[in-house]
Amino acid sequence: MAADFPGNTEAAPVGVFDSGVGGLTVLEALRRALPGRDFIYFGDTARVPYGSKPPELVRRFAWEISGFLLRRGAGAIVVACNTASSLALGDLRRLGVPVFDVIGPAVLEAADYHHVGVIGTRATVASRAYQQRLEAAGKRVWALATPLFVPIVEEGLWNDAVAELVARHYLEAAPHDLEALILGCTHYPYLKPLLARLRPQLKLIDSAAPTAARVAAALGPKAGSGSVVHYVSGDPDAYRALAQRLGVRVDQVRKVELGEL
Ligand code: DGL
Repeated sequence: MAADFPGNTEAAPVGVFDSGVGGLTVLEALRRALPGRDFIYFGDTARVPYGSKPPELVRRFAWEISGFLLRRGAGAIVVACNTASSLALGDLRRLGVPVFDVIGPAVLEAADYHHVGVIGTRATVASRAYQQRLEAAGKRVWALATPLFVPIVEEGLWNDAVAELVARHYLEAAPHDLEALILGCTHYPYLKPLLARLRPQLKLIDSAAPTAARVAAALGPKAGSGSVVHYVSGDPDAYRALAQRLGVRVDQVRKVELGEL
């Protein structure tokens, strides 16, 4: 049964945001789970990466962007960024609309595994948001900050030799008896084929599908037009081109000046 709240109307789009193109992994899963819904996506491409910035700055960005999405009519917010999910969720839950994070759903996906690894940005790993939840569920946890993966994706280099070099470097540190690895950054699913090739025995878990399932269960299917409007703080043409290379068609993209947030 869909939750009853003011923004849960036929017309209300779902607001989704990330520091850049990473959240598109979640957006695409949301579109599959809720084909009739309208979405507004914000990629903060002028200020990516978030993961190396101080927590209070990320919290401020998340607050500003959520306010922007609400002013554009969003009836719910999906924080399609692990860094913002791990730092800003407490603030965002005061917004008065349903707010969904990407961490809880990924942790649940790891339920069947005992020795679980998590890779993410420096800020996500330092927040211990994943480690605390996994440890509370009785898991043995290994965690590593893997910040170079974000610029590799933002620069369109996920199929390049540099991606393999960096992935080998990071995975060298992973214990050999690790059973599952949570990709604790929404940029990382684009590296899944590479990571799967380097460590085929490892179950790779990401937030996109379980987050979308959770949002769909809470909001319920609504008949909209299935439209997506993208907003970016950086260059819209570069964003469209990168999204296209990632297999995401961007029909409407608008530039937002940081002063408008
Ligand atoms: N994709 C984001 C995340 O899931 C942000 C990465 C970054 O900007 O550092 O954490």
